[in-house]
Amino acid sequence: MAQLWGGRFTKETDELVYKFNASINFDKVMINEDVEGSIAHATMLARTGIISKAEGEAIIEGLKSILNDVNEGKLEITEEYEDIHSFMEANLIKRIGDTGKKLHTGRSRNDQVALDFRLYTKKNVLLIKEDIVRLLRTILHIAEDNTVTYMPGFTHLQKAQPVTLAHHMLAYFEMFKRDVSRLDDIVKRMNYSPLGAGALAGTTYPLDRDFVAKELGFDGPTLNSMDSVSDRDYLIEFLSALSTIMMHLSRLSEEMIIWNSNEYGFIEIDDSFSTGSSIMPQKKNPDICELVRGKTGRVYGALMSILTTMKGLPLAYNKDMQEDKEVSFDAFKTVHDCLVMYDGMLSTTKFNKDTMALSAVKGFTNATDAADYLVKKGMPFRDAHKVIGELVVFCISKNIAIDDLKIDELKKFSELFDEDVYEEISLKTCVEKRLTAGGCSETSVLKTIEAEKKFLNQF
Ligand code: ARG
Repeated sequence: MAQLWGGRFTKETDELVYKFNASINFDKVMINEDVEGSIAHATMLARTGIISKAEGEAIIEGLKSILNDVNEGKLEITEEYEDIHSFMEANLIKRIGDTGKKLHTGRSRNDQVALDFRLYTKKNVLLIKEDIVRLLRTILHIAEDNTVTYMPGFTHLQKAQPVTLAHHMLAYFEMFKRDVSRLDDIVKRMNYSPLGAGALAGTTYPLDRDFVAKELGFDGPTLNSMDSVSDRDYLIEFLSALSTIMMHLSRLSEEMIIWNSNEYGFIEIDDSFSTGSSIMPQKKNPDICELVRGKTGRVYGALMSILTTMKGLPLAYNKDMQEDKEVSFDAFKTVHDCLVMYDGMLSTTKFNKDTMALSAVKGFTNATDAADYLVKKGMPFRDAHKVIGELVVFCISKNIAIDDLKIDELKKFSELFDEDVYEEISLKTCVEKRLTAGGCSETSVLKTIEAEKKFLNQF
């Protein structure tokens, strides 16, 4: 046991207590952020004369060499230390002697861990943003290739009106685009340095918090020391954004699973992104989609966990907050992995365009347009709705589409039907007439694609 706080104690910590209390096994992933924060702190201590220039340099060199040794596998991070902060400090002292004991001047592990975790979280926010932007590019490619790939649009999972694959995929583009903007908002709000808050009340040393904040890429220092050490709002915001991203991925997964089913056959997920069955030789399963859908619960769990951990905490730091890490690290990695998987899977998925179009022709997706046709010929909409409803019932009994009926058969339902009806209710017309901004016609979709391209150009 190598603890930072033995002085006040007359008895050794119980072995089980030591293990229960320790966080080194998981907070070791923040070693880069810990070193980065300590270097900024030491630089500031030397600049302000709280320690000498030579001491500052020795500390920085020591920190860098420890990190280097860890990276090269020459130094192992072991359970002998309570957390990554203790590991670094103990090793620094081992390496450079008493000067190492000066690093923690004007600092507490409370503001240190607040800083490390904020830096680590920010790094992950930016990584997830990159992952989403990559996925957005893939989605846009699919959209560009499929502006006239007709398919049924659904409500209640019942065929509703025809759309195009481009239009359907661009719906997901919008969702993930909003996710990017949510991540940007989080960075804006979280980008303040808590270092210098000390244990909770600030410190008596003349720290230059502005300098440290700038060194570490923050917009400035936080403004209340008690809040600084006990705020995890930024994490909750990020986990909430991650949950929303997973919700979007999970909806897409659900659609991919349905589209990939034998009954639909709209898509074929590539062999490299599918798995087989140990007993049924014919099976090719959409496991990746199912796993992404399943892992969504796990990410929601992380959000609930932190919200619950935080809800009863009095100011300022409480050890409960050490529980912020494991579930969050897991959520960060899970979402990253899912986004990477999805990009690879979507870009290799084959879309069966003919099957999609045929499905749209077969499901009375032109019924609304048939009613609109009668309206244009002078029938009130409510009456037209009734006529087409009867027509649909008739077609179902014959297992045919509305357009399969000859004109004299159509006329039995309404005299207003004429030869031009076939053109007016064709799949192509149904889609291409929907010219409203944000509609599914090729004209509207191409405008949307142009706007989305501009959006992606900024990255
Ligand atoms: N490992 C601790 C955490 O993750 C570091 C802060 C400890 N501070 C304290 N006063 N015990 O929260």
